[in-house]
Amino acid sequence: MPKIITVAARKGGVGKTTIAYELAYLLDAPLVDLEFDDGSATRIWGYRHEARTRAPLLDAIERGTVPRPLKGHRKPDLVPCHPDFQLNQPDADTMANILDTWAGEWGRDFVVVDTHGGGSPSGDGAIAAASSVVVPVPLRTKDLNATESMVREMPDFPLVLVPSMVPRVPPAPEINRIRTIIEGTPVTVASPVPYVRGIETRKKRIALTSENPTPKAYVAFADAMHQLASFLKEDHL
Ligand SMILES: Nc1ncnc2c1ncn2[C@@H]1O[C@H](COP(=O)(O)OP(=O)(O)OP(=O)(O)O)[C@@H](O)[C@H]1O
Ligand SMILES: [Mg+2]
Repeated sequence: MPKIITVAARKGGVGKTTIAYELAYLLDAPLVDLEFDDGSATRIWGYRHEARTRAPLLDAIERGTVPRPLKGHRKPDLVPCHPDFQLNQPDADTMANILDTWAGEWGRDFVVVDTHGGGSPSGDGAIAAASSVVVPVPLRTKDLNATESMVREMPDFPLVLVPSMVPRVPPAPEINRIRTIIEGTPVTVASPVPYVRGIETRKKRIALTSENPTPKAYVAFADAMHQLASFLKEDHL
């Protein structure tokens, strides 16, 4: 059975899209983009809905068909999002069923879903359909508070917390807080993803982990992405 990996969080700007893009590339998984604004993976990938007459995500949902992911060269295959998805997204149950159907039809080992920041009905559906929910967590009080509520409210969901944008010297109290948050729950914590200056202004469309050799500044980040991909693969053996 294909595994759906959904990247989601209660807060925006935590690194979801950055992580989803690299994970999809490393897992050789189609990336279903459910983020309907311009900060999305669809934009990074280089897809411009303005230049297209069809909207693969919306068309497939409306017609009950299975979209064919666009082929990526050194970047993930993609089902691009569209701004109209904001007001035309299915409810959570419908989205979950749709993703199950697509994943089954595609027949790939993994499907990665990126969700809209701050939550959405379609994002909730993607969480419900997921066999792992990757939750990036910057070690900041607000993000930790939001993560704590998420873990409390979703105790039976397969959450994997990923400390995100972590400074070179991780703050000990915040690391401890993550441990406290997951205590007594089945929620797991993956290795931290370091903060890397330069990612915010990177213009390349290819996955960072496709660069060979990896630019020195990105080595720690790329290592973390490889570790996360391995973690998820092992989790699903
Ligand atoms: N590890 C990192 N180090 C440094 N900058 C990062 C890192 N991860 C992400 N960023 C930057 O932080 C910003 C937010 O990242 P990203 O878009 O991945 O977050 P998001 O959770 O998808 O946001 P949204 O909620 O808007 O969808 C981007 O400018 C991105 O380039
Ligand atoms: Mg995003």
